[in-house]
Amino acid sequence: MDVNEALATRRSVRGFLDTPVDPAVIRRVVEAAARAPSGGNVQPWHIDVVAGDRLEALKTLMRTRLAEAPGGEPTEYDIYPKTLPSPYRDYRFAVGEALYGALGIPRADKMQRLMWFARNFQFFGAPVALFCSVARTMGPPQWSDLGMYLQSLMLLLRAEGLDSCAQECWAIYPATIRGFIGIPEDRMLFTGMAIGFRDEADPANAVRSERAPLADFATFHGL
Ligand SMILES: Cc1cc2nc3c(=O)[nH]c(=O)nc-3n(C[C@H](O)[C@H](O)[C@H](O)COP(=O)(O)O)c2cc1C
Repeated sequence: MDVNEALATRRSVRGFLDTPVDPAVIRRVVEAAARAPSGGNVQPWHIDVVAGDRLEALKTLMRTRLAEAPGGEPTEYDIYPKTLPSPYRDYRFAVGEALYGALGIPRADKMQRLMWFARNFQFFGAPVALFCSVARTMGPPQWSDLGMYLQSLMLLLRAEGLDSCAQECWAIYPATIRGFIGIPEDRMLFTGMAIGFRDEADPANAVRSERAPLADFATFHGL
């Protein structure tokens, strides 16, 4: 698979088969993704991979936590700005509507939407989970480096026939994840990620998110 194909076929997969993933593949990909660039070669990413019995324990814990604290825990960063102006809020709205549309859950059915959202905390059935954390001292440039690592990882996963879904929703339960995987206090959780083989039959995977046209986000000067 070349990089174009990896990029074109990567999408957020929200329904996985329970087919196990070779641990050697995960180790290889987690290591190789660190070829991602970072400003000053600071390499600010910290990665925790969770699978097998530990993943089952985490899923069980999350069922309890969702029941105990359905609104989540005090967060350590804002997942979105307090106000998300257009066009960004429109893009966000559109992808949500496309997803719930594919699932046949109408906007008015808030309870069913919430219940479906809770599947995030079971990693959509994926057999491997990953968490990315970062030192609290790091600023926006280093956080952008995390994105480079994570996209590299997701493309490398495609090359192995695997799929993924980045999951910022885990930032809603930072204390639980900190305790479970032992993130030290000087680091904070950025995101989780579900990893596995996509279930083609899952309607959630029928969604192809849209992108703004080129002219809306790029200006070419002198070419
Ligand atoms: C950092 C990050 C966090 C995300 N968090 C979630 C999440 O918590 N749950 C979810 O279902 N999708 C999540 N997504 C997936 C986005 O919704 C998705 O990338 C976007 O809608 C574009 O769709 P695509 O990935 O299929 O191209 C996240 C993506 C990124 C990059």
